[in-house]
Amino acid sequence: MYTGLLHLHSYMTYLVLLGVLISFGAALAGLFGNRPFTDKDRKLGLLGLIPTHLQWVFGVILYFVSPRGLSNFSGEAMGDSVSRLYILEHPLTMIIAVVLITIGYSRAKRQIGTGKGFKSIAILYGIALALILSRIPWMAWPGN
Ligand code: HEM
Repeated sequence: MYTGLLHLHSYMTYLVLLGVLISFGAALAGLFGNRPFTDKDRKLGLLGLIPTHLQWVFGVILYFVSPRGLSNFSGEAMGDSVSRLYILEHPLTMIIAVVLITIGYSRAKRQIGTGKGFKSIAILYGIALALILSRIPWMAWPGN
């Protein structure tokens, strides 16, 4: 189960990055295009929301089954930067990113017909993307 889940979590990262990038880029284009936010734009926001939500669920399960997750928690492990990344920084930062994306999408979907939906997605997905990129374990991913 562990190996399969780790592969799933690893491959899902491509979809997460692609989806969030497309949603973010589309929101920026809409924002600078100065046009109203439509239902089609809301659906573009889903491209970032859906994979990050799935990834969150896989990540939480992985946290309990991985030897690098909760079972590795100790004072000594917290002193090691790589162990600390997996035990604390990666999960916490990714959860914050998922929350920001959820807020960005929920606000935007109430703004159909106005210009504000783009701003909500552009700002919150943008911050979330920066957070995700800052705490991906780059020494292990994408691997070879
Ligand atoms: C947007 C959300 C997330 C992204 C993009 C992401 C991405 C990644 C990537 C790329 C890896 C390295 C995979 C590999 O070694 O091939 C990883 C590992 C890991 N992630 Fe996530 N993750 C996310 C959310 C989470 C969450 C919310 C948790 C836990 C609450 C979590 C727990 C873990 C754990 C424990 C590992 C280490 C697994 C191992 O090597 O045994 N992740 N994650």
